[in-house]
Amino acid sequence: MEKLRLGVNIDHVATVRNARGSAWPDPLRAALLAETAGADGITAHLREDRRHIRDADMDALMAGIGIPLNFECAATDEMAAIVLRLRPHAVCLVPERREERTTEGGLDVAGDENRLAQYIAPLRDAGCRVSMFIGHDPRQIEASARIGAAVVELHTGHYSDLHAEGQIDEAEAELEALRRGATLAHSLGLEVHAGHGLTYDNVAPIAAIPELRELNIGHFLIGEAVFMGLGPAIEEMRRRIDMARHRRA
Ligand code: PXP
Repeated sequence: MEKLRLGVNIDHVATVRNARGSAWPDPLRAALLAETAGADGITAHLREDRRHIRDADMDALMAGIGIPLNFECAATDEMAAIVLRLRPHAVCLVPERREERTTEGGLDVAGDENRLAQYIAPLRDAGCRVSMFIGHDPRQIEASARIGAAVVELHTGHYSDLHAEGQIDEAEAELEALRRGATLAHSLGLEVHAGHGLTYDNVAPIAAIPELRELNIGHFLIGEAVFMGLGPAIEEMRRRIDMARHRRA
């Protein structure tokens, strides 16, 4: 089976920095460490409220890292202007609500198809790989293909929550739906990624989905870094992902 790329989301390095209003810990330093530890890409989410990553972080990441940057954002005019200025490798469009703690659901591509088709056209023309962060609902997958997205990232948050709550049957059903979603997306010519809420304990069944090409993982890794350091935390995730794919092959 093809090796799975690991994108490391460094948002929460910025969360810790911003808690004190100081200059550290520095998200760019984390990204460079992640690169050294074997990350294949860096993901950062510039939220409308700038609660973690800020504009200057995106500039620094674009200038400083040697691996692809996946720029996560809401589909707003403000973000399109920033993306078109920076031209990152990839843009992952996510829904955003101010009151949420994290990205709670997938994007409603089917319900906003015309606007999103127009929204992504200039981003694609600028050379960015455009990704839609969606649930496994076939309607959302099919709409993502129709509007010309290159990638869908399947939201694994619900699976992760069920797994953490010990709801094994429900987690298995969710996993099965994610597998079907990955198969459908792949059959429509979309590159398939996944992420949200992934940990050492729940990553293996997701990593074993053959159509997947990339996982994006953040919060858990930054938490583990407190105990074992960021490099070793990423290396351990890499090992578990590779093992899961090996076993499946
Ligand atoms: N992928 C997307 C699109 C996300 O919005 C997030 C969270 O910012 C992640 C992956 C990473 O999720 P987590 O931080 O829970 O690992």
